[in-house]
Amino acid sequence: MQDIFTKLFEQSYDTVMSTPERSFLQSERKRLLNCLRGEILEIGSGTGVNFPFYQSECNVTALEPSAELAGKASEKFFQNNDSIKAKINIVQAGLGESPWDDSHKNASYDAIVCTLVLCTIPEPQTALSLFKKWLKPNGSLIILEHVQAKNPIAQISQYILNPVWNTLAGGCNLHRPTAQYIREAGFKPVELRELQFVLPFISAVYSV
Ligand SMILES: C[S@@+](CC[C@H](N)C(=O)[O-])C[C@H]1O[C@@H](n2cnc3c(N)ncnc32)[C@H](O)[C@@H]1O
Repeated sequence: MQDIFTKLFEQSYDTVMSTPERSFLQSERKRLLNCLRGEILEIGSGTGVNFPFYQSECNVTALEPSAELAGKASEKFFQNNDSIKAKINIVQAGLGESPWDDSHKNASYDAIVCTLVLCTIPEPQTALSLFKKWLKPNGSLIILEHVQAKNPIAQISQYILNPVWNTLAGGCNLHRPTAQYIREAGFKPVELRELQFVLPFISAVYSV
């Protein structure tokens, strides 16, 4: 049953996300990604929504475990070749999956990009400690994520809704204190914006 919901979620992802994308996500993606240069690691690149925002000086490794989503991203890449300037290598693998994890080198990346993904990956705290090692000393962690609500009533609602949301939304968790996890991992905010669009979001750049 879960497989059916996951497949539906993956097939409808771009359609379901079109309103928040138009409302604020696209402009935040552009703001965060336009200025990146060098070796970039994108975690859970999904359907490739971030690809048009990377400049030609970027060499992007886009990690995506879902064959369906990686396939959609490749299609987008080939169909919109003109609007995609960066060199992009889509790797069909997830964090924590060999052999990808074994093949990386520490201090290899100028930036690691997580957009709407730390809510879904199984062990975000472990992932963040890996990111610290994988980033170069002057590297940046780029974050666009929905987070746990500060308001106690909204927070309780997130916990109550989470089981249903998690089933319908491809394993996404509404209530993760992602901003706290990032702080605890030792990243320092360079710029941090708090936004509200139905859910609370952070749009941020962190240094190692
Ligand atoms: C909500 S989608 C976000 C997609 C895209 N980053 C965006 O901004 O629209 C969550 C993504 O996390 C990916 N994901 C799930 N588990 C993962 C893992 N262990 N490692 C990397 N990505 C993972 C999913 O396949 C999916 O593409």
